[in-house]
Amino acid sequence: MNKIKVISVFGTRPEAIKMAPLVKEFIENSEYFDSKILVTGQHREMLDQVLDIFKIVPDYDLNIMKHNQSIVDITSEVVKGIDEILKDFSPDVLLVHGDTTTSFAAALAAFYNHVKVGHVEAGLRSGNKYSPYPEEMNRSLTGRIADFHFAPTKGNEENLINENIDKEHIFVTGNTVIDALLSVVDSKFRFEHPVLKKIDFENQRILLLTAHRRENLGKPMEDIFKAIKRIVLEFDDVEVIYPVHLNPIVQKIANQVLGEVKRVHLIEPLDYLPFANLISKSHLILTDSGGIQEEAPALGKPVLVLRKETERPEAVEAGTVKIVGTNEMNVYETIKMLLTNDYEYQKMANAVNPYGDGSTSKRIVNIIKEAIHV
Ligand code: UD1
Ligand code: UDP
Repeated sequence: MNKIKVISVFGTRPEAIKMAPLVKEFIENSEYFDSKILVTGQHREMLDQVLDIFKIVPDYDLNIMKHNQSIVDITSEVVKGIDEILKDFSPDVLLVHGDTTTSFAAALAAFYNHVKVGHVEAGLRSGNKYSPYPEEMNRSLTGRIADFHFAPTKGNEENLINENIDKEHIFVTGNTVIDALLSVVDSKFRFEHPVLKKIDFENQRILLLTAHRRENLGKPMEDIFKAIKRIVLEFDDVEVIYPVHLNPIVQKIANQVLGEVKRVHLIEPLDYLPFANLISKSHLILTDSGGIQEEAPALGKPVLVLRKETERPEAVEAGTVKIVGTNEMNVYETIKMLLTNDYEYQKMANAVNPYGDGSTSKRIVNIIKEAIHV
């Protein structure tokens, strides 16, 4: 029997986390698949952290990251680099994830080479071309190219149907993020990190902060950080842990506004194992991240989303996630309300998991096995 040739492509931290369970599943099924892993290296250190945790060794590494890279740099280098590899490996299907520029550019290179594309985490939409930027357009264009759409939820499937994607090519699978999360969260987990192991999780309320979105760089991010500074100065029992993204612009704003503030811990990006366990030990999550909006609800942690809209309405509908935007007063008032009103806090602190049961990767692998005949 001929094996199905599949190449999984990713380049940034969140894609790596969410593709890790899937590439492991291909390895488990190696009697059916000749599976290769291609990393673009759009992120370097933050990608390598995930590869280490999940013990993934890429077959190809384009190693493209430059400091302060533009989206044009990423697109052009990925299209060119992948084009060469596709000519060498000629896969039956190329898999990409979500909405990064790595994903869109890889899908484009596959299309140019008449290679079928499977889109993992398909169908998320904010409806706003410029927010998140450039992710909304990346995922829409990837969806236009894709032959298989692995949609996490029914709502994501509906978004695709509304864009005239053939229902037969859409598969509601859940999100692989839950497969990854379930493999790392452990109630007995102990931190080795020098800052985290000194935190008094029993008596202090921990706010876990992450922020990196391109459209928030500049004043929106400054305003968010100023609101958080006011909160920490007002509440003695609150500490903030912020693993700062390696983007130099984010580093600069974080250090300027929060660098000298007591009980605010600016630390380097954490490995996935301590990070996921830190979510489960925190009181409240403040984030503009996509993936964390899926993980924190599954762990019963309220999330305030530091953006104007979300492409992940499921946890908002369930009450665990609130959209607060980036206005300083609004961010400050909403955090304060949740710190002072236990009824409102408890209403949000429900474990909800609209994103899957931990078996998404198995489903995707089975679908590909059934659909592709070689
Ligand atoms: C990228 C994705 C975004 C995703 C995010 C996850 C695009 C356009 N953006 O945004 O969708 O949500 O990753 O984190 O695809 N850097 C390092 N080391 C690293 C990673 C980044 O130094 O390991 C620095 C580099 O200077 C780099 C900059 O951060 O130029 C920005 O990285 P980039 O991938 O362009 O954008 P992100 O904001 O990380
Ligand atoms: N994450 C991590 N270490 C950190 C911060 C985040 O491992 O210090 C994980 C987090 O659990 C989630 C993913 O990285 O799975 C989110 O990545 P990011 O916020 O960079 O991207 P987005 O999800 O917004 O695309």
